[in-house]
Amino acid sequence: MKKQGRKVDLSDLDLKKNVCIVVDQGKIKWVGKQDKISKELKKQIKQTIDVKGNTVLPGFIDCHTHMVFAGSRQHEFELRNQGVSYQEINKQGGGIGSTVRATRKASLDHLTNLAQDRVKKHLSQGVTTVEVKSGYGLSLKDEIKMLKAIKNIKKVNTVSTFLGPHSLPKEFNDHQTYIDYVIDKILPAVSKAQLADRVDIFIEKGFFTPTQADQYFKAAKSFNLGCIAHTEQLSLQNGYKTALKYDAVSLDHVIELDKAGIKTVAKSKSTAILLPIADFYLKTNYPNARALIDQGGRVAIATDYNPGSAPSQDLSLLGVLSRLEMKMKLHEVISGLTVGAAFALNKQNQIGCIDIGYQADFCVIDGDVGDLFYQIGHHPVLSTYVRGVRHFGKL
Ligand code: NIG
Ligand code: FE
Repeated sequence: MKKQGRKVDLSDLDLKKNVCIVVDQGKIKWVGKQDKISKELKKQIKQTIDVKGNTVLPGFIDCHTHMVFAGSRQHEFELRNQGVSYQEINKQGGGIGSTVRATRKASLDHLTNLAQDRVKKHLSQGVTTVEVKSGYGLSLKDEIKMLKAIKNIKKVNTVSTFLGPHSLPKEFNDHQTYIDYVIDKILPAVSKAQLADRVDIFIEKGFFTPTQADQYFKAAKSFNLGCIAHTEQLSLQNGYKTALKYDAVSLDHVIELDKAGIKTVAKSKSTAILLPIADFYLKTNYPNARALIDQGGRVAIATDYNPGSAPSQDLSLLGVLSRLEMKMKLHEVISGLTVGAAFALNKQNQIGCIDIGYQADFCVIDGDVGDLFYQIGHHPVLSTYVRGVRHFGKL
C-alpha cells in the first residue's frame, strides 16, 4: 500500500469524484476516468450505478467497539455525573460487572439480534467494517457466546477480538487467578473454535497489570493470535511497552502517555487508536493526538461504542470531538476512520482505500467532505456499499 496513514495530507485520501469504479466479485477491478475504460472491460459490465456527481469515499472503519452487549447503564451516567468515578463504580460491582450480568443472562440469538440492530446505525453512517470485542462474558461459556454473536453479524465486515481480561468476574477473588484461568481454559477454546482474530486486555489500576498482560500475550502468540491493549486510559501503566514487545497492532486510548511514551508509540509500527467519545463521557483528559501525529505516528479513531464509557456510535460526535478536543485536521479525521483504522486491524491491504484489489466498500456522501464532522448529529451519507452490495441508501 502506498499510503501509510502517517503525516497524512489531503491527497492521501481516496475521495473519488467523476471517476468510474469497476467492481467484480466484491473487489475493485479498475478505477479511472470513464473515457479511459477499455472496450473489453466495458463489455463485461453488467450493471451500472450512477452516484450523480456525489463524492465516493472508502467505507468508514470503526476499529474499536464493544457493541455486543445486553442491558443498559443509564443509572451510572447519573452517578458519574454526580462525581462517582468509573473505577469506584466498577469496584462496587457496577460498571463492566453490570453489563456482564445482563450479557450472561442473554441468549446467543438475543445478543446477535441486538448487535445486528446496532449495525443498522453503523451502515447508515457509511461504516463498512466494525471491530467488535468480547469481554462481557468473563467465563468460558459466556465469552464463547459473545464471540459467536460477533461471528453471526451480517451485512458489515467484522473483526472479532477476544477480551477475556476486561474485568475481574465475581467468581474470582484475584486478578492473577483469573488470568491463569483465561490462559489455561478460555484462550485454548477460543483458538480451537477459531472465534477470534486477536486478543485484547484492559491494563489499568484495579484491572490488569503489565506483568499479567505479558503472560497473556505470550499465550496468545503461541496460538498465533495478534495482540492489542486498552492501555494508559486512566493512568500511566506503561502497558504500551509490554504490548509493543508482542508487536501490538494497535494501542488503544493512550491518553496518559508521557513524552517518552508518545515518542516510542509514534515511532513504532503500531497504530494508536484514540477514542474521544469515552473521554468525553468519562470527563478524562484527551490523548495528545497532535504530538502523536506530528511525530510521525499513525492514528486511528473509533467510537469505543459500549453501554458504559461510550454509549454512542455517532460518527459525527466522534469526528467533531477529534477536531475540537484533539485538534485533528479534517483529513486526519477521515484518514483515522479509513487508512489508519485499516492498519489498526492489520487489514491495510484489503480495506480503507479505493484502489485495484481492495474490497468494494464505499460510502457516498452528499456534498463536500467539509460537511463531514462539522455538525454534531449531521452526517450526510447517502449510500453505503459493502463488498459491492448496497446496504444503505438509494444511490
Ligand atoms: O474502552 N476501558 C475499558 N473498556 C471500555 C469500557 C467498557 C465499559 O465500561 O463497559 C472502554 O472504555
Ligand atoms: Fe474499549
